[in-house]
Amino acid sequence: MEKHEVRIDTDKCIGCGLCVKTCAARNIRLKDKKAEIVSEHCILCGQCTAVCPKEAVSISGYDMEPARKTWNAQLNPGEVLDAIRFRRSIRQFQDKKIPKDVIDQILEAGRLTHTAKNKQDVSFVVLDKEKDRIEQMAVRIFKKVKPLAGLFSPMVKRFEIDRHFFFFKAPVVIVVLAEDKTNGILAAQNMEFVAEANGLGVLFSGFFTTAANISRRIRKELRVPKGKKAAMTLVLGYPGIKFLRSTQHEKLDVRYM
Ligand SMILES: Cc1cc2nc3c(=O)[nH]c(=O)nc-3n(C[C@H](O)[C@H](O)[C@H](O)COP(=O)(O)O)c2cc1C
Ligand code: SF4
Ligand code: SF4
Repeated sequence: MEKHEVRIDTDKCIGCGLCVKTCAARNIRLKDKKAEIVSEHCILCGQCTAVCPKEAVSISGYDMEPARKTWNAQLNPGEVLDAIRFRRSIRQFQDKKIPKDVIDQILEAGRLTHTAKNKQDVSFVVLDKEKDRIEQMAVRIFKKVKPLAGLFSPMVKRFEIDRHFFFFKAPVVIVVLAEDKTNGILAAQNMEFVAEANGLGVLFSGFFTTAANISRRIRKELRVPKGKKAAMTLVLGYPGIKFLRSTQHEKLDVRYM
């Protein structure tokens, strides 16, 4: 990864102070009516570049420029809530390929998701050709642990760990890797939204995520870098099932203090 550095073009700076107010790391100050970087230690969040009205702030070392916001990116609250209400875990998929540009858009949602301290520690493994072979590795592990797990759970006892136990014949699986699991899970949720917006169905496979994290062989196959773990696994495909209703949920548990 290239080194990043926040830079101010003092010729462009008009001393409005917006970047100073915005910086969570208190890393910018005004001197002689011009913005000035205090140190090279900050979280590189880029908010100073996003707020400056004169494009006077930049961060070096990226292969992309910030995109200009040309419309008010405001979503309809009722529609967003309904998207949450009616999304369902999908375990039946059509035998239909997912176009590459759709997969790219889903990955872009993951890449753009915010991370704690702007760590950007999330990466992705797309399982396509190798999907079945890797699934069988997880199947072998679960077959071994099932008799013991079945002692504690009548539901596990009923499971048949067949060849498609993890991926349900879905065309594509994306394993989300991260140093900080929370960052990976946030990315996974945004990816689900973009997948659904493209007409896809998604299953979060906690089972495969567990298998990947407990098996050194699967980690090796997925080439999980040192310091990272599988945070979530998205099983993706066009739904082979249509749900007609939302599901029931417990009452809202909230306390105002
Ligand atoms: C973190 C997480 C892990 C999950 N892991 C699995 C899994 O390994 N296998 C599976 O069939 N379903 C899995 N699910 C799906 C849940 O069982 C499902 O979300 C829940 O029963 C509610 O159903 P709904 O998603 O249709 O509302 C997982 C869901 C979440 C949020
Ligand atoms: S926001 Fe831009 S113009 Fe305003 S003080 Fe900061 S660098 Fe200068
Ligand atoms: S990148 Fe973020 S933390 Fe760093 S100077 Fe800009 S606003 Fe502050």
